Order: sequence, then structure tokens, then C-alpha cells
Amino acid sequence: MDRQVNGITLHYEEYGQGMPVVLVHAFPLGGVMWQPQIEPLAAAWRLIIPDMRGFGASDAPAGPYPMQTCADDIAALLDELGIQQAVIGGLSMGGYISFAFLRRFPSRVRALVLADTRATADSAEAKAGRETNAQLVESQGARAIAEKMLPSLLAPAASEGLKAHVRGIIQRNRPQGIAGALRGMALRPDSSDLLPQIRVPTLLLVGSEDNLTSPAEMRTLESSIAGSRLVTIPGAAHLSNMENPPAFTSALSDFLRAVEGS
Ligand code: MLT
Repeated sequence: MDRQVNGITLHYEEYGQGMPVVLVHAFPLGGVMWQPQIEPLAAAWRLIIPDMRGFGASDAPAGPYPMQTCADDIAALLDELGIQQAVIGGLSMGGYISFAFLRRFPSRVRALVLADTRATADSAEAKAGRETNAQLVESQGARAIAEKMLPSLLAPAASEGLKAHVRGIIQRNRPQGIAGALRGMALRPDSSDLLPQIRVPTLLLVGSEDNLTSPAEMRTLESSIAGSRLVTIPGAAHLSNMENPPAFTSALSDFLRAVEGS
């Protein structure tokens, strides 16, 4: 489905009924990365899975895409769908966008799910790396980014089928969208100040082999967010929901059941 929001066409998928749960994808993928979670979760909840601006079937206007703009896109989509409050969940870049959403629309967050992400801003070195990658994708296309990032997105033991699937998702994205998100992520503020203020139920998930956002970084989030719980997903690196769907989905389902009962 498509909606006109915030000056762009935003594509999203919607499944199931009940408590609304928004799942925000990682960079540089698309909503399709949540495919393993759809069937089990949509049996009990209303899933809203957008392609963020620049990705999948959504528009890819000229960047950069600040995380707060992406958060505004989600809020506008929820307005269109008549949803006041939702569980907001995101993996990696999806987590950055979730922090931005929480900062701008705290009363709209029923609960938070933060997977393989961090609250801190980019270092000067990381910002420079983003610009290098933006220029790489602009000059050589999405395939170059896919080849560069794939080894850190998935554990070495990931199947060839999964590697090909993730590569395909990345390569179908437009260079302008990937560059816009890279330059937008580089602009994001440090969200560490938000952590002690979080009062909603929060689930943290991390792949045991994640080298991009390590289990140690996620433990910092756990110690800063009151009442949060960190679940480690065995045998997974960064894209933990795709690499070990049963463990990821089961932790998420248990959490959503508890939120609903609270
Ligand atoms: C992601 O998976 O969204 C990216 O690794 C985030 C980042 O590059 O910081």
C-alpha cells in the first residue's frame, strides 16, 4: 500500500489486527527484511511495516534524510491510518529512527523494541566513512555497497541463500536513497540523554556475533533504560531477525504479550 505523507509517497505493508506494532528496517534494506516475523506476529497484532524514504517502493527524494524526518514520516503514516499509539520497533537504523520518534512523539510510543542499534551519534571517523560510502554508491551503484557491507551484516556461517537474499534487497535500492540515508544517519544527535527518561516497556535484542552494534554496546542501553531487558540472539550477527528468526520472533512475541497484558 502507498500513502502520501510528508511530501513523499511512502510504501508500507500492513498485516493482522490488534495492538499496532511498527517495525522499522535497517540500512540499507527495506521493510521486506521483516518477512520472517510477519506470519507469527500478524496472528496476534496489527503490523505496520514501512519502506523508509529512499528504500524499497517508497520515494527516494534528494537527501540527506535526517532521522527526525524519517520519524515524521512514520507519525504521518500513523495519522493516515488513524493510529494514535503504537509499539515502535527498529533494527539498527530503525533504532536510530525509533529514538527520533520517541524524542518527537513520546506519547505515541506504547513500548519500544531496539535491536542491534545504539544511542550514540557518529564519531568524526564514522561520519567521514558515511560520506565515503555515499560517494561510492553514487559512483558505483548499490552493488558496491552490498559487497562492502554484507560481511558485517551477516555471520560468517550464514547460508548462501540468506546472503543472496540480503544482497538482492540491497541491490534493488536506488543509489540516491542509500546516499540520502547515509548522510542522514551522520546528522543524528546523541540520544543517550533520552535513555534514563524512557518509561515505556523496552525490549533490547542483539545478535551474539554482531560486530557493528556489539552486545557490549547493547548492555549499555540495558543498564541505562529502567526495566529494559536484553535478549541475545544466538548464531546471529547484525541482521539478527533474519539470521535466527525463531529466537528473535519468540522474544518479540513474549514481549508484546507482556505489553498487552500490562
Ligand atoms: C544498519 O544496519 O541500519 C546500519 O548498520 C546502521 C549504521 O550504519 O549505523
